[in-house]
Amino acid sequence: MHRDVERVLFSQEQIAQRVSELAAALSAEYQGRNPLCIGVLKGSVFFMADLLRQMDTMASMDFMILSSYGQGSVSQGKVKIVKDLDVEIVGRDVIIVEDIIDTGHTLAQLMKLLDTRHPASIKLVTLLDKPARREVSFVPDLCGFTVPDEFLVGYGLDYAERYRNLPYIGVLKRAIYE
Ligand code: PRP
Repeated sequence: MHRDVERVLFSQEQIAQRVSELAAALSAEYQGRNPLCIGVLKGSVFFMADLLRQMDTMASMDFMILSSYGQGSVSQGKVKIVKDLDVEIVGRDVIIVEDIIDTGHTLAQLMKLLDTRHPASIKLVTLLDKPARREVSFVPDLCGFTVPDEFLVGYGLDYAERYRNLPYIGVLKRAIYE
């Protein structure tokens, strides 16, 4: 375990197991279709890569970069598109792939925006959901794990761009960020 991590919340094996369950659910739902999976960078990269490789159906990929927190560390409730999609989504089945939902601002605004582009359907799958921090009501269609209100790192999640490549999800020691 990394010395800055207080404890492992989900091991590599637990994540792999849950990701294959989510992939099985999506495979059943999208059988015979070709959904466009939209990864919200950067946190979703490992989840997206693992999830799509387990999906037993056609799936296309695109990515967006959003900036949700402005300059500070506290959500300002405003989402800016830094990188938009490369493709049109009109008439497409869209699956947004996220690493975590926290306040809900990012996803609520992204869903609203993508809806104006008239996809055939739009669903959200998130690996982690932290409902204790919610500021706008938002419920994911599929969720890997509900998590407590702690500072999580690994498997895509960062603190100051560090720890994203830890293969597990851990709780960061307070001394690192306080
Ligand atoms: C995280 C996460 C979501 C957003 C959720 O991204 O990936 O996009 O925050 O927060 P919210 O529910 O409070 O809006 P972040 O802005 O940390 O960027 P990153 O994925 O590059 O780490």
